[in-house]
Amino acid sequence: MLQRIKSLTLFGLNAEEVEVEADTHFGKAACLIVGLGDTAVQEAKERVRSAMKHSGFTFPNNRVAINLAPADLKKHGPRFDLPIALGLLHATGQMPLEEDNDQRIFVGELGFTGELRPISGILPTVSNALEMGYKEIYVPIDNLPEATLISGIDVFGVKTLEQIHQHLIGIKKMTPAPHRKFESQNFVTADESDMKHIKGQEQAKRALEIAAAGGHNLLMCGPPGSGKTLLAKGFATILPALTVEEALDITQIHSIAGLTTAKGPISLRRPFRSVHHTASGIAIVGGGNPPKPGEISLSHRGVLFLDELPEFPQKTLEVLRQPLEDGIVTISRASGTCTFPAQLMLIAAMNPCPCGFSGDKEKDCSCTPFNIDRYRNRISGPLLDRIDLHLNVPRISFEKLTDVRKAESSKDIRDRVQKTRDVQRKRLAEDKITTNAEMPSSLVKKYCPLPEDAQTLLKSAVQQMNLSGRAYYRILKLSRTIADLAQREEIILSDVAEAVQYRARDLG
Ligand SMILES: Nc1ncnc2c1ncn2[C@@H]1O[C@H](COP(=O)(O)OP(=O)(O)OP(=O)(O)O)[C@@H](O)[C@H]1O
Ligand SMILES: [Mg+2]
Repeated sequence: MLQRIKSLTLFGLNAEEVEVEADTHFGKAACLIVGLGDTAVQEAKERVRSAMKHSGFTFPNNRVAINLAPADLKKHGPRFDLPIALGLLHATGQMPLEEDNDQRIFVGELGFTGELRPISGILPTVSNALEMGYKEIYVPIDNLPEATLISGIDVFGVKTLEQIHQHLIGIKKMTPAPHRKFESQNFVTADESDMKHIKGQEQAKRALEIAAAGGHNLLMCGPPGSGKTLLAKGFATILPALTVEEALDITQIHSIAGLTTAKGPISLRRPFRSVHHTASGIAIVGGGNPPKPGEISLSHRGVLFLDELPEFPQKTLEVLRQPLEDGIVTISRASGTCTFPAQLMLIAAMNPCPCGFSGDKEKDCSCTPFNIDRYRNRISGPLLDRIDLHLNVPRISFEKLTDVRKAESSKDIRDRVQKTRDVQRKRLAEDKITTNAEMPSSLVKKYCPLPEDAQTLLKSAVQQMNLSGRAYYRILKLSRTIADLAQREEIILSDVAEAVQYRARDLG
């Protein structure tokens, strides 16, 4: 009886089962692959033909039909090479199969000589196989470092087509690879642009520390050369270490985007994605067919840095609104809808006007009010409303710039950030979130009670600054982080006052 070979196809982070069956008929020599495969799937026949030939098998000399079921599900990429080759070997009587073969998943690309080449998306493939209850998964050997991060399923690293053939017919059995326990000691932090080299800008550094501690969004505004880009780069060095769960979460997304390698199978560093304003909407948000994560998902649990914010096309900035609110992004395609996580910190920088000197104490601005308005209006109110910390970064004085004393190092700041994150993680553990910024309004009510004087201050701020409901909750969350940074359980008046001050959008 013909047996089906099982494989998995990915749609976003979710997998669907694909059954590969092959058959041969009398007729003119031809090979046909049916089942809505893309070009890479169609080209599999050439790779499989050569791989079989070079591995000492015979490729049938008559009409070959390969079916990838279900027929109405689109299949992408070269991951079906291995199951197709195995299906053909079985159909042509070169490989008898055991009955329990439907407990196994096979994925992998074949080279012409029969060796297996790594594929992308291996981590989500293995974790889906485990969830679906499969007992064994066979992956290209170079994917093994990533695949063995998941325990609970036997993972086999396959080198060649011949090797898996010998294993499946029982001549030379392979052994499953040991599970790789991942330790957080392996995590690295960026240290190229240490904060100690940045002179002055104490206020900006304080705001960056708060943003890193609670996962808040921040916008820096200031004249050219005041150090905005420098500060943003320094921000990467004060981010807290990843937890193992976070690293696996991030790796799943990076795996689909093809950013993981055999040498670097897991994302060890909190993402810091600096995106240029010429990037397309799809590159930023995600898309394509099959859907690939965009920059906002690649910066999940890390930072999305948008330098020169007003230079970004307005449409691109508007699509950020929904993910910034929900922490996820939904991509809809004709073939279905998929969701990628996008829980990120947005760090943005801009000049206050086209010439850059509006509001500067010494230098006159040469822009007309109309030009200034047009420049600032490129960033919509709703987007600004989602930013918790609005920051002016003025030019620093000559004295400060030439001060030889070193400022506080990134490590000292990072230690405080880490402590504050630990407090939040403990408090929010049962709510299944990790940072203050992620709290929905129900939790804000629970965890951010205010004393009377702070309540009064907030009330007058909301009234005088015409703040939205969203801004109200965001100020409370920011106050919570400021209190946490001080290792204080109660939020006091000065915390709220500081949080309100960061809301004031004074661009000069
Ligand atoms: N506070 C500072 N301490 C040390 N160096 C500084 C500081 N501010 C600026 N610099 C120096 O000036 C350079 C330019 O700074 P940066 O690129 O961050 O400015 P910017 O505010 O982003 O300007 P633009 O608005 O033109 O993008 C830095 O590479 C650094 O060498
Ligand atoms: Mg800059």
